[in-house]
Amino acid sequence: MESSKSRRDFLFASTVVGATVLLNGCGRLNQGNPEKSAESEPNELGGEVTATEDLMREHGILRRALLVYSAAAIKLRANPSAIAPDSLQKTAKLFRAFGEEYHEKKLEEAYIFPAVKTVGGEAASYPDILVAQHNRGREITDYIISVTQGAKLGTSNSDTLANSLESFVLMYRNHAAREDTIIFPAWKQTMTAKQLDEMNDKFEDIEHEQFGADGFEDAVKQIAAIESSLGLADISQFTAPPPPKV
Ligand SMILES: [Fe+2]
Ligand SMILES: [Fe+2]
Repeated sequence: MESSKSRRDFLFASTVVGATVLLNGCGRLNQGNPEKSAESEPNELGGEVTATEDLMREHGILRRALLVYSAAAIKLRANPSAIAPDSLQKTAKLFRAFGEEYHEKKLEEAYIFPAVKTVGGEAASYPDILVAQHNRGREITDYIISVTQGAKLGTSNSDTLANSLESFVLMYRNHAAREDTIIFPAWKQTMTAKQLDEMNDKFEDIEHEQFGADGFEDAVKQIAAIESSLGLADISQFTAPPPPKV
């Protein structure tokens, strides 16, 4: 009993020491993936963005667009003239360019969904539904772009627009959360570390092709400017009040 415990302790200690040596050897850029360490710039701050990190931070941009839509829907119901149509138009065009034409069409529909469908299991049942949601999202984005052309939003269509914004938000909150927790992890499981590294490079090339050097950074600036124009930039306004005393 004593000897097997000692052996377990030794094995655990060896694993920890081994892992520590490996991590120290590879630095923070490529933890646990010695193959990549030869390719990356050791002095590059922050290191390489992996393909799955890329996809999830793109969701971050889209989630911020959804927050704009939620805030706009509330204002539209209270006072349609309180919302400058231009801010919704810019949000919809950002969602189109960054979400629909790039993230969905060039990455998810081209690479991720086909791979996930081949592995079977729970994840494989999602892509058809997710594509249908992409298509419905595109129809709603067309509608938002079309009704926000004018200088003011009329009371006649403000309720319909608020309904569309809210249903779009509900769909995409569900959609992106499932992709983050089911689809992207399943996709990652279809590749070796080397193949994933190749996808990191491929996704980076596609991003550069589509937007030039700073696709993500430009999208962050665009959504930040929209938030500012609607008074949504200061995050401290969203700190929840303390709970009631019990
Ligand atoms: Fe998607
Ligand atoms: Fe997505």
